[in-house]
Amino acid sequence: MMQPNNNYSAWSTPQYTHTQFSALSPTERLRYFCQLAHLAPSTHNTQPWKFHIDPDNMVIEVSLDQNSVLPASDVAGRQSIISIGAAIEHIRIGAEYEGYAVTIHSASADKTSVRPVPKDPQHVSRVPIATIALSPQMNAPSHAESGRAGAIFSRKIMRAEYKRDQPIPNHVLEEIQSCVDTDTITFHTLTDPLRRQAIAEFQAQADGFVINNKKFSRELGDWLLENDTSSPVGMPGAGFGLDDTQAMRMHRALSGDIPLEPEDGLRFSLAGKEYIEKTPFIGVITTKGDTVDDWIHAGRAFERIALTFESHGISHAMHAGIVEVRLINRMFAATLGTLQSLQVLFRAGYVKKEEDLRRPHSPRLPLEAVLY
Ligand SMILES: Cc1cc2nc3c(=O)[nH]c(=O)nc-3n(C[C@H](O)[C@H](O)[C@H](O)COP(=O)(O)O)c2cc1C
Repeated sequence: MMQPNNNYSAWSTPQYTHTQFSALSPTERLRYFCQLAHLAPSTHNTQPWKFHIDPDNMVIEVSLDQNSVLPASDVAGRQSIISIGAAIEHIRIGAEYEGYAVTIHSASADKTSVRPVPKDPQHVSRVPIATIALSPQMNAPSHAESGRAGAIFSRKIMRAEYKRDQPIPNHVLEEIQSCVDTDTITFHTLTDPLRRQAIAEFQAQADGFVINNKKFSRELGDWLLENDTSSPVGMPGAGFGLDDTQAMRMHRALSGDIPLEPEDGLRFSLAGKEYIEKTPFIGVITTKGDTVDDWIHAGRAFERIALTFESHGISHAMHAGIVEVRLINRMFAATLGTLQSLQVLFRAGYVKKEEDLRRPHSPRLPLEAVLY
């Protein structure tokens, strides 16, 4: 697969040993933690975060770049904030691993301030989301936390078929249950075939809506890119298992340059459905409220779970369509039997085809572009 530029160099970030880390200056340390945050997943790989470091006080300020919020698929800004929650969790895990106590203060952003805005690259539109203060502590990280810290460097979203008959081992499920903060979110695990089938149907409907809705599909086309793209943001088709020709065709068809063949649309909506039908594990995160803080908590919890899976060699993928297509969201919540707000739906399992594990990572902006 062609990777003609430096857009993938973020994945060569080393995991510093404690001795290597202790030789870094305060500025280098904080930049390193921002780099870890930058390896987090984000909706459509928009990387909607911006970081400001204050080495005198060992503080990182995390903001949303409102220009990055996608108007069709992220109308409320929820997906962008969940992404930022995941980035915050990377900082928390990375900093605790290197011997810091971490205090996270929410900036209590208002929901109206995180919605998409008309795109204007000239106008920087930063919304403070949280400040993260680091102070030295002596506690060594647990084995599970060290596993999560290591997983930051290898993690990737795996949109592939998982082995239906290979369940997640109980000790991993226990580790997951013990790492979620049940004061801030509710974590539902679904492993029974009946509910999995129902969710698969919802997924097909959500994907069908996306593909048949011009605004949604054009936006997806702008972000689902050719494999040799020079863009540091967005999703090269290889991450969906598409070869160079398929990726180019899908990008052009969704963008409206060439007609979208009916079978392309059908294949798109059936793929998600099939993946869910075959997955041994579905996780859903809901919250009591539906505020920006709830979205941050959901993003943090999701990423903690995702890194736990990754540390045990278990893949995961996200399915935001069910959350974002409103009618389906409500029907799904009823199936789940909850009155809480649906935030994140993902699946996890062991990849069926070994070669899928060798798919390239997704690109990242240079670190300088996300610092202010
Ligand atoms: C909030 C959020 C929602 C996402 N929704 C989807 C989704 O619906 N379908 C999908 O295939 N990937 C989804 N992703 C995965 C992103 O596309 C992926 O994180 C991004 O392309 C970067 O790739 P990486 O995570 O492998 O580094 C989502 C990620 C986040 C954080």
